Amino acid sequence: MEPVRFAIIGCGSIAQKGYQPRCLAYPEKLALHGCFDQDRARAKAFSAESGGGRVYGSIDEVLADPEVEAVLNLTTIDGHFPVTLAALKAGKHVFSEKPIAMTSAQAAELIREAEARTLKLACAPSSPLGYEQQNVWARIRAGEIGQPHTVVGTFACTRLEAWHPNADVFMTHGISVAADAAPYPLTVMTTYFGPVARVFGFARIVVPERVLQTGPRKGAAFRPSIPDHVMGLLEFANGVRGFVYTGWSGRSDVPPLEIHGTEGAFALNPHNDGAGIRTWSQSGHEVQSVPTPPKAMKNALDWGKGPVDLADAIRRERPVRCSPYQARHVVEIAEGLNESSRTGAPVVLTTRFDPPEPVGEVAPWE
Ligand SMILES: NC(=O)c1ccc[n+]([C@@H]2O[C@H](COP(=O)([O-])OP(=O)(O)OC[C@H]3O[C@@H](n4cnc5c(N)ncnc54)[C@H](O)[C@@H]3O)[C@@H](O)[C@H]2O)c1
Repeated sequence: MEPVRFAIIGCGSIAQKGYQPRCLAYPEKLALHGCFDQDRARAKAFSAESGGGRVYGSIDEVLADPEVEAVLNLTTIDGHFPVTLAALKAGKHVFSEKPIAMTSAQAAELIREAEARTLKLACAPSSPLGYEQQNVWARIRAGEIGQPHTVVGTFACTRLEAWHPNADVFMTHGISVAADAAPYPLTVMTTYFGPVARVFGFARIVVPERVLQTGPRKGAAFRPSIPDHVMGLLEFANGVRGFVYTGWSGRSDVPPLEIHGTEGAFALNPHNDGAGIRTWSQSGHEVQSVPTPPKAMKNALDWGKGPVDLADAIRRERPVRCSPYQARHVVEIAEGLNESSRTGAPVVLTTRFDPPEPVGEVAPWE
């Protein structure tokens, strides 16, 4: 297949550390044509240091380039909706970092735009495409732990401002930490068990005064305007019940994802591949440590898989696996958790999505 020519918009931390190196690992599927950042110096450095190709002077220049077939939107959350919308309107396929938009209404608008133009729209995280995440999913479907009834997921990261130079942007735009950090457990949970019908949430700000501790604005104080600490109960439409916990308030070593069934349980990392899979029998004893699939990354996330799946979907004219419908649903979960926290009552969710296709024997990136 001819590689899909793409441009990166947003040349920050995750473009440099995550996407660029992993997209370059799949030259038969992806060709990086150029890049743009509103901070021109950053785009120039990105291109020079990481082989980012042509440096564009504006978004309009990227979108007017007929050589660019797809855009990787790696901007911060405030750029997700406007950049993706502009790219779709210009006839480009898009892979966006999560969350797909600041609200589920905006996500619906992006989906309508993509559908109207028969363009592919895909959204991070790529983590459900990992070998371990797919392995556990296949074993759940095969009945290895009986009837699943409970799923518990966490993504409680360190104090973001301790290591991220733009931590304030994350905490002053959008819905809550659940929309930015919890898509890792939530996207794997909803891949395994489908949409959530009802949520009950607790959302609050636990660290109201923060100071950037790194980057060019080091020392700048800021106050989060969205919840930095969220807990929620999830009732999946298929009857499974779940719990999610996420925060920018301090590190947690609670296992990132556990799935409990009538005959046993699995534990794995919903973010990184190759971090190990554990299983318990009905009696609660650890029955075996499942061998890590040999092709899995070594306790890391392969950021290239989502864009490769998008490229493969473009060329084969099939649905993407990192579905925008699922990403919209994850945003609606985060919105529901906030609303429930405000009102003290459970919130019924309305969006639905078809489950992604399992990756199968030969993955698009192999
Ligand atoms: N940093 C991580 O470890 C990490 C991990 C997973 C996902 N992500 C996600 O990736 C996205 C980007 O995060 P990051 O950490 O790379 O942020 P960052 O602040 O390091 O980089 C974002 C870049 O986008 C640019 N930008 C923002 N809006 C723009 C616009 N409208 N047009 C052009 N450029 C624009 C900024 O100038 C900046 O260089 C976020 O959605 C984040 O949730 C980040």
